[in-house]
Amino acid sequence: MNKDNIILGIESSCDDTSAAIIKNGVILSNVTAGQEVHQKYGGVVPELASRAHQQNIVPVIDLALKNAKIELSDLSAIAFTKGPGLLGSLLVGTSFAKSLSLGLDIPLVGVNHMKGHILAHFIQEEGFEKEVPKFPFICLTVSGGHTQIVKVLSPLRMEVLGETMDDAAGEAFDKAAKLMGLPYPGGPLIDKYAQLGDKDRFSFTFPRTEEFSYSFSGLKTQFMNFLKKGLKTDENFIKDNLEDICASYQSHIVNYLFQKLKKAAFSENINQIAIAGGVSANSYLRSELKRLGEIHGWSTFIPKFEYCTDNAGMIAITGYYQLLEGDVSMQNVIPNARMKVDE
Ligand code: KG4
Ligand code: ZN
Repeated sequence: MNKDNIILGIESSCDDTSAAIIKNGVILSNVTAGQEVHQKYGGVVPELASRAHQQNIVPVIDLALKNAKIELSDLSAIAFTKGPGLLGSLLVGTSFAKSLSLGLDIPLVGVNHMKGHILAHFIQEEGFEKEVPKFPFICLTVSGGHTQIVKVLSPLRMEVLGETMDDAAGEAFDKAAKLMGLPYPGGPLIDKYAQLGDKDRFSFTFPRTEEFSYSFSGLKTQFMNFLKKGLKTDENFIKDNLEDICASYQSHIVNYLFQKLKKAAFSENINQIAIAGGVSANSYLRSELKRLGEIHGWSTFIPKFEYCTDNAGMIAITGYYQLLEGDVSMQNVIPNARMKVDE
């Protein structure tokens, strides 16, 4: 038997079809196909997402194998996203992974997508050893579907300290972008315009929420009223002030995220602080984490861009840790659209 652990990771929880190969914790390839079909609808359309996954999954896996110079017969296990996510999307990856593991007679490993975002910090690249967070560490996971402060006790043991009670931080970005007429997903565009704007020009408020929990749904209404008010006196209000609006709105969200994250770090007395998920690609969030880390003496961990948004590298690395601990799935495994990070 092959003594190397070579894992094929498959990610299909939302609107990215991705495949990656990880050999003994080192990434050999990571291929992602996005889905432009959703742009004109201003959000992900579940039925269209699952159809696009069906079209993309074979070529994406094929390319991941080719880029890694790995044959199907070299694989030790197939890791796939079991949840959370859109059920129709998850079903495509799950069914494909099951068939492949059956055909190759190798283990099948169902992976939690939220654990994957966090364990993306442990992906090693060929040629140098990257510094990784020491356990226990705190991770702020911010994506299009989740906003959580997680205490990470070991690769597979995680505890949610606090989370959003309604919308996710990514949704707060995307919904505001949609109100300004920007295409989906608007988060990266807000980030882009914000880099040229004045973050102190406009201000917003947040509701009071319990200790480490967040709430973003009220911000959307507040932002809509802010735009309406501006447009009443100046029909070009958005166009003429886009950069300042984006910078002020972005800094408001980032400050709110850190307000709770700081509280959690102090109360847990933990100085290893990481960020993860699609919104961790945000340039202001990244620079603020570094700045706060210097002030508070934290070791900070920021994922490489390609491992922030949904990707199969993070699924393959989580599958690798699960395989080491014998945490594998049976052929009757089913996707879990509402899977919690501690499941
Ligand atoms: O983790 P992810 O790829 O998918 C989910 O699991 O949800 O996160 C996608 C989210 C979207 O809301 C997108 O707008 C946001 O991440 N995002 C950003 C940036 N890049 C991606 N938000 C703000 N600034 C960015 N640079
Ligand atoms: Zn995600």
